[in-house]
Amino acid sequence: EPIPAAERAAALQAISDDIGDCTRCSLAYAGRRKIVFGDGSPSARLMFVGEGPGADEDVQGLPFVGKAGQLLNNMIAAMGLARAEVYIANIVKCRPPNNRVPEPVEATTCSQFLLRQIDVVQPEVIVALGSTAATYLLGVKRSLGSLRGQWHSCRGAKVAVTYHPAFLLRDPNMKGEAWK
Ligand code: URA
Repeated sequence: EPIPAAERAAALQAISDDIGDCTRCSLAYAGRRKIVFGDGSPSARLMFVGEGPGADEDVQGLPFVGKAGQLLNNMIAAMGLARAEVYIANIVKCRPPNNRVPEPVEATTCSQFLLRQIDVVQPEVIVALGSTAATYLLGVKRSLGSLRGQWHSCRGAKVAVTYHPAFLLRDPNMKGEAWK
């Protein structure tokens, strides 16, 4: 049953309350400062999902606020959207030490909450940023190259897979491919 738009902010807050001061996985004991729940419109038609918080996100408690976030913000603006109109979250809500890739048990422990967020927001389209997002949204581990360029699905949303903005910062030549 879709949650009425007027009740979505409260429904997201209830998920955040469930998470609480989470100690469900080892990232709770790996130096995280803030749990990064997600950000944006509770009725967004478009959602972006990244891997996990980095150093800036860990301090501010908001997703994609560091360098990669600035690129993502610029791309959202270039699409003609405001950041506040979309919804942004990650596979894991706590920063992995040294920004390592989340372990499978960390990702699957945490992604249950992301799936609940998706069920509340009910976006039409989810953009999976990078292979960690793609792996855990789609439940398959395949190369990014083989997942790009076609529609997938997750919780009733269409899913597009593309490069992570941190990768595009390292290899700006790939921006054209990301826009496709
Ligand atoms: N990279 C991510 O995957 N997520 C963030 O929130 C920031 C950087």
